[in-house]
This record gives sequence, C-alpha cells and structure tokens, in this order.
Amino acid sequence: MLRKLNTIDFQSSKYNFGRTVLIRFDFNVPIENEKILDDFRIQQSIPTIKFCLEQGAKLVLMSHLGRPNGNVDKNLSLIPVGEKLAEILEMPIKFSHDCISDDAIEVSRSLKDGEIHLLENLRFYKEEELNDPKFASKLSSHGSIYINDAFGLTHRLHASNSSIIDNFSVKGIGLLIEKELQYLSDSLKNPQKPLTLIIGGAKIGTKIDIINNFLDIADNILIGGAMANTFLFSKGKNIGKSLFEKEKVKNAREILENAKKSKTKIHLPLDSTGSMNNLINKKDFTLKTNQIEDDMVIADIGPETVELYTSIISKSKTVFWNGTMGVSEMSHFSEGNNKIIDSIVSSNSESIIGGGDTISSITNYNKSFLSEFSHISTGGGATLHLLGGNKLPAIDILDIK
Ligand code: 3PG
Repeated sequence: MLRKLNTIDFQSSKYNFGRTVLIRFDFNVPIENEKILDDFRIQQSIPTIKFCLEQGAKLVLMSHLGRPNGNVDKNLSLIPVGEKLAEILEMPIKFSHDCISDDAIEVSRSLKDGEIHLLENLRFYKEEELNDPKFASKLSSHGSIYINDAFGLTHRLHASNSSIIDNFSVKGIGLLIEKELQYLSDSLKNPQKPLTLIIGGAKIGTKIDIINNFLDIADNILIGGAMANTFLFSKGKNIGKSLFEKEKVKNAREILENAKKSKTKIHLPLDSTGSMNNLINKKDFTLKTNQIEDDMVIADIGPETVELYTSIISKSKTVFWNGTMGVSEMSHFSEGNNKIIDSIVSSNSESIIGGGDTISSITNYNKSFLSEFSHISTGGGATLHLLGGNKLPAIDILDIK
C-alpha cells in the first residue's frame, strides 16, 4: 500500500528534529537566461507544499534540473525555481547552494515551523543518478519524514527517489503523484466507454508500448503526426518525402496486425495537407492519402481525417491524448491539431493529456483551454512508461506490500 500524505501524523513528537518533511519534486522546467519559460510543474507542486505547511511542518525541497552529469553548471541552478516558489507562495524560501553540505543540513535542522528550504540541483553530484546510498544517506539528514512527489522522475531510480527511502520509517507519496496515478492508472482499470486514444508526434519508438497496451482497452485509436506516415508506409502507401521511421515499419505493421485480432479499431489519416519538397513554409496541397506524390511532404491531417476523428471524439466518454497531429508549431499546419483540441474541449469526455509538445500546442492555440481538460500530466517519459502498461519503479518501491 502506498502511504498518502493525509495518513501521516505531522504532529507526532517521535520525529528526531520535529516534523521536517523532505520532499522530492520534479522541478525540471525550461529556463532561459534565469527566466522560467513554463512553470506548470512548479504550480503542480503547490498543493503538496500547502498541505504540509497547513499541518505545521517544516519543508525541505529537492529536485534535479537538466542533465549536468555530475558537474556544477550555473545555468542549471534551482535559484529561479526558488524565486518562483517565493512568488507563488508569497513567502521567503531559504536556498542552499549545495544539497549535502554541512551548512545546508544545518539550515534544514534549524528551520522553524512553516519555513521552506530549497536545495540546489541534485544532479550537480553524479551520485544522484548512480543511486548512491552514501549520497542518499547524506540527503536524508535533511528531514524526518520523506515524501516523493516527483512524478516526472518515477520511471528512474536515483538516490533521491530510491536509495534514500531506506533511511526513513515514515515515507509516502505527495498529492501530485496521487493525482497522476488516479488519472493515468486507476481510471484505466474501469474506464468510461467509449474510450479513445489519440496518438501522434514524430516517433513511434516511445509509443509502441502504449498502442499495444491500449489494444482491447480503447475502442478507437486515432493516429496522426509523422508517426502516421510510418504506418501508411507500412501499408505500402506513397508518403513522398515525408518524415517517417524506416526502422519502425515492421513494428507499425505488427501493431496493425495485432489490432485486427483485438476489439480496438486503429484509424489512420484519410487525407493530409503539406508542402512540395522540404519547404514546409507554406501549405501547397490538401490531398487524399493515396494521391501523395514523390516530392510531397505531409505536415498535418486533412479535413476528411478531421471530420472522422472529431466525430469519434465527440462520442467518447474518455479521451487519452499524447502527441500532436502535425507540424502544429507552424500556424499554417496547426489547423488539424487545433480542430482536435476544439473537439476534445467541446466533448463531455474525461480528457487526459500528456507530452510536452501536445501541451505546448494547446498553449499556443488557446492557453485558457488548459483548464478545460480533466488532467494534464506533468510526466514525459514517466507518463509514456505508465501508459505503456509498465510499473513505475520509484513508486513501486514505496508500495509496502
Ligand atoms: C523529465 O523532464 O521527463 C523528468 O524530469 C526526467 O528528466 P530526465 O529525462 O533528464 O531524467
């Protein structure tokens, strides 16, 4: 059983230096020139922070940022994250420039109730990714209760979400992980039907498991993006000069074969829009899939596909979506993707969205739509891993059988 935040007695006097909660978050957010470009993951950590503060706890927060490979890189400092947290929570945040120094541990040990201490990027130490127990033990001196709320990292076992747990008797998951599991895992056990999976983006490789896992669970799978080209190619269609993955053609063929034996119907684009040669700076054609010629590049789903896909979405009770329908970052090739967004927003379905590009495509189209979806996952690789039917190791080890 996974221990949830609301089962922890924050008032207990048995903790050696009193109610200090060490929380692992995933504050891996895009930062440019010390400015946070997208604070979604930080915003999603707030409910857990507020919950602990309301219980009178002292908080020590830790995270990685980027991939500094064990080196100190000031461009990957968590200082901007501390500033953002201070702005959102309207309170000062203490910051330590080293996550395991004696000074940093002293700051944590002398926190007063309701104070927050943020540690510098864990990946400035190579021991973090090596899941080093000594490093984990040092980190554990920051708190007496351990909470993992770094959903985006749960597909990896690192010191701060793996070895560290051996040092705590009181440990559990935060509110974000609880919510992610509710939408990405529990909701699939008994989903409202019809269930539609929309899958797009460029690469099949990372999504083969998801498509296979949803065979028999989903009623319909709608495929778009450059990934659809690989499927079309596997069926012997001419896709011209369009992007596709030659080495995944066999996988695409197998998926289509598996689908025939399942209750799930896989839909591929009926038509597309695109450009001649590699010049995707303007829209040159709207054609049926079997009219594509050698010098054409497919860049978006066409109107017939939009009609088919949106009619399926409008009848769905549950929609999972990961991956865009085309080169949606270019306004002249975003129409198909935008129509899919409109259709999910106006449907009465429970809608669960994942993937950075998919979320950006919604933000670029209409930021206010973000609140119209039932759940937007903070995980990249972790979400793909879970939807692919796999266990998340960093959650599994916290699950006391
Ligand atoms: C993510 O952004 O998906 C997580 O923070 C994990 O980052 P990583 O792929 O660098 O481990």
